[in-house]
Order: sequence, then structure tokens, then C-alpha cells
Amino acid sequence: MTAVDVVIMAAGKGTRMKSRLPKVLHRLAGRALVQHVIETAAALDARRIVVVTGNGADEVEAALTAWAHARATPVPAFARQEPQLGTGHAVQQALPLLPDDGTTLILNGDVPLIQAATLQSLVQRSGGRALALLSAEMPDPRGYGRVLRSGDAVRAIVEDKDATDVQRRITEVYTGFMAVPNGLLKRWLARLTQDNAQGEYYLTDIVRLAIEDGAEVLACEVEDTVQVEGVNSPVQLAALERAFQLRQARALMEQGVRIADPARFDLRGQLACAQDVEIDLNCVFEGRVSLGEGVRVGANCVIANADIAAGAVVHPFTHIDGEKTGVRIGQGARVGPFARLRPGADLGAEVHVGNFVEIKNATLARGAKANHLAYLGDASVGARVNYGAGSITANYDGANKHRTVIEDDVHIGSNSVLVAPVTIGRGGTVGASSTITKNTPPEALSVARGRQVSIPNWQRPKKKS
Ligand code: UD1
Ligand code: CA
Repeated sequence: MTAVDVVIMAAGKGTRMKSRLPKVLHRLAGRALVQHVIETAAALDARRIVVVTGNGADEVEAALTAWAHARATPVPAFARQEPQLGTGHAVQQALPLLPDDGTTLILNGDVPLIQAATLQSLVQRSGGRALALLSAEMPDPRGYGRVLRSGDAVRAIVEDKDATDVQRRITEVYTGFMAVPNGLLKRWLARLTQDNAQGEYYLTDIVRLAIEDGAEVLACEVEDTVQVEGVNSPVQLAALERAFQLRQARALMEQGVRIADPARFDLRGQLACAQDVEIDLNCVFEGRVSLGEGVRVGANCVIANADIAAGAVVHPFTHIDGEKTGVRIGQGARVGPFARLRPGADLGAEVHVGNFVEIKNATLARGAKANHLAYLGDASVGARVNYGAGSITANYDGANKHRTVIEDDVHIGSNSVLVAPVTIGRGGTVGASSTITKNTPPEALSVARGRQVSIPNWQRPKKKS
């Protein structure tokens, strides 16, 4: 096997995005377009990955560097192209970074759905000696370079703007992907000229040069043309987002996941599912999420960086974001509707968390319940605790955060404030509307509110006539 190097062209302007953000940094499924291409290149075990930058180069390079650091993956090499004089010129900038042996794959930073298997077969066809280009049949070939043939043999690629009317009727197009042995690529790129309709150095001219040199040129057709579609506008970005999401949804369904409507499913990261998982409409998964056997996720949930154990149910409109710390939901737990779980929420088995309950950096042991309108932050909640509606942990004194410990079998009455640091002793009860500032003993009823007073025969003030 010859070594594979990858050059990703990403210097273009992206005018039609009408955005301040460089085009290749626009996001598809939560990741920059060019990140998708880099990940595909990495899946090929590429020896070198060179990204050619130009427009927005500082921003693109900074974003890709930060992203590589965050994932502990190698930072790609960058080659600056300034000014941008065409695709041939773009690849010329990368040449000093490419060894003389091996084969280079040329990819586009704004064509995110190309698959590793397609590229692998392109490299195989190139076989260390031929120029292998990826072609496609396009019913509407406008704008593309056309593949010119003599008999069966590829002769050249002519750009749309340079083509004759007869050539423009050709529906076999060049998709923008090719594999070329490095030595030949260097030789041919050195011979490009700007003698064409756009005054650019066309990468596609190397096909003609290869034929002149008697080298073999092969066109491999890609049937699944979504793989070679580029993003030039928000409309195209949205279309490719849907295509990508459908691809992911289909893969999950093939593993047995039941997705209510694959057209209303979004995965912006990794989702691992055990058997018999059901996902209702309009759910968004981000980061790393795992769903255990039989987990059901109701409609309109957003779930990021969470591990949800077997048999748990997430009811509709729940928002879960574990960020860097993660969220854990135990076996058979029930969460939502309208619950919010933040980083460090760690729910044991059979825990119930109901509507308008927010949990952050808190563990709830088996069978604990917080069913309505409550906040638990920086807390340890024991088994079988019942945490009443409207109760909160006052965990923040304006400068520091403090922990609240609620031991097993405690009952916290509604509308209580637990001012941390504080411990509620096991089996204790806190009367409704208490403001608890001191530790409470086990098994006791603790009440901390004004005593109820009733004044008999109370006369309300009367209006003066
Ligand atoms: C190119 C091909 C065309 C093919 C089409 C497929 C050439 C000359 N033409 O045309 O045959 O059918 O792609 O989509 O190659 N870029 C740079 N620097 C530059 C110019 C472009 O980095 O100086 C990058 C762009 O950011 C983009 C890619 O190269 O990612 C392709 O450039 P683009 O202008 O879209 O090429 P097309 O004219 O569409
Ligand atoms: Ca293009």
C-alpha cells in the first residue's frame, strides 16, 4: 500500500453564504464543514493532511487547531494561498509539504459528505501510477467541469466557462475529487498556465498534461451524488444537513433503534444505543450520549453528554446537558416532562424528576423524588427522599458554593429553602416553607418559619363613606 496524503482546499470565499464566518467553518451536524472532511481523511489513515487556507485563514487555522487540541488529535498542516488564483494554484501551495512518494487525495473543505470508502477506492484505482478522478452523471451539469473522452478514454476536463455548446451538453462531470501519485502531481502542477476563460490555474488541466505524458487517467463514477455536493449557500447547507441526519438515522434504525420520524431527528455527535430504544419526534442529541436497553425518549428533548441507563424514560421537552462533566440517569428513572439536568446531575435507579425541576452537580440515590418546581444544586440526596414542590438548595452565598446533604428517607416539605452548607439528618422531615440554616437531627420534624397565629373575630377595615 502506498502512503496517502490529503490536500483539502479551503481558501475560497463563500460569497453566497452571506456570512462573516468563513464558509468551511459553517456547521453541519454541530461540526465545521471542513472538520467533516478532516475526519474522513483521518479515517483513511492519511500520512499528511494539508489544509489550504486563504479567505479567513487566521480564523480557519485557529478553529482547526483548537478543535484538534480539544480532541487530542494531530493538528493538520496549513498552507496559505494568497491570493487565490485557482484550484491548481491552491494545490501548488501544499506541494512543499508533500513527500515525493505516495499518493495525494485532493478534497474540498466545503464538500462534507464524501465517504472514506469512496476515497479508498479512488486511491486503489490510482494504484500509485494513474490519475484517478471521481466523476458523476449529473442530469443538470451546469457549473461543473465536463469529462471529455475519445472513445472510452478520458482525454481532458473542460471547465463550464471554457466549454463549447456541444461540450456543455455532456452530463459526465468532474466532482472535484482526485487521487494522483505525488511525483506526477508535482511534475504536472509545475506546468499549469492561466490561459483560460477565468485566468486561473485550473487543477483540472493536469488531466490533459497526464494524457500528453502518456500516463493513465481513470474516471470512477460515484452513484450517490450527495457525497460530492458542495455547500455554497444556506439552502445547500440545510439540504446537506438533512441528508447527513437521514444517513445517521438510517444507520441507527438498522441497529434496531426505533426513531419515530427520521426526518425529525438530529444527532450532532455520537449516540450509542442498546436494544429496544425508542426516540420520539424532534429530539436533538449532542456530544456523547448513550441510551441503555429499552430507554424511551419523548418528543422535543435536547440531550447532550449524558448516559441514560436501561429502562429509563425521558418525557417530552426535557433538556439535559452534561457539558464536560456529564449527566447520569440510573435504571428505570423517570425524568420530565420539562425537566432540566445540568452538568454533574447523577440520578440513581428509579429516581423521579418531574416538571420544572433543575438539577446541577447533585446526586440522587435510588428512589429519590423531586417531582415539581424545584432546584437541587451541589447536593447529595439520599435514597427514597421526597423533595417537595418549590424547594431549593441555596448553594451560592454570592462568593462560594456550598453543599447540601439530605440523608436517606428525608421528606422536604414544599417551598423550603435549604441554606448550604447544611445537612438534613436521616429520616427527618422539614415542614413546608421552612428556611433551614442549621443541621437537623435524624428522625426529627424541623420547622423554621413564623408560627401560625389566628386572631378571632378579626374585623377588616371598612371603606369610609
Ligand atoms: C471545480 C472544478 C470543476 C468541478 C467542480 C466540482 C477546477 C478548475 N474546477 O470548479 O471541474 O466540476 O470543482 O465542484 O478545479 N479553492 C481554493 N483556492 C482557489 C480556488 C478554489 O482553495 O484559488 C477551493 C474552494 O474553496 C473550493 C474548491 O477549491 O473548496 C473548489 O473551488 P470552486 O471555485 O468551487 O471550483 P469550481 O469552479 O466549482
Ligand atoms: Ca464549486
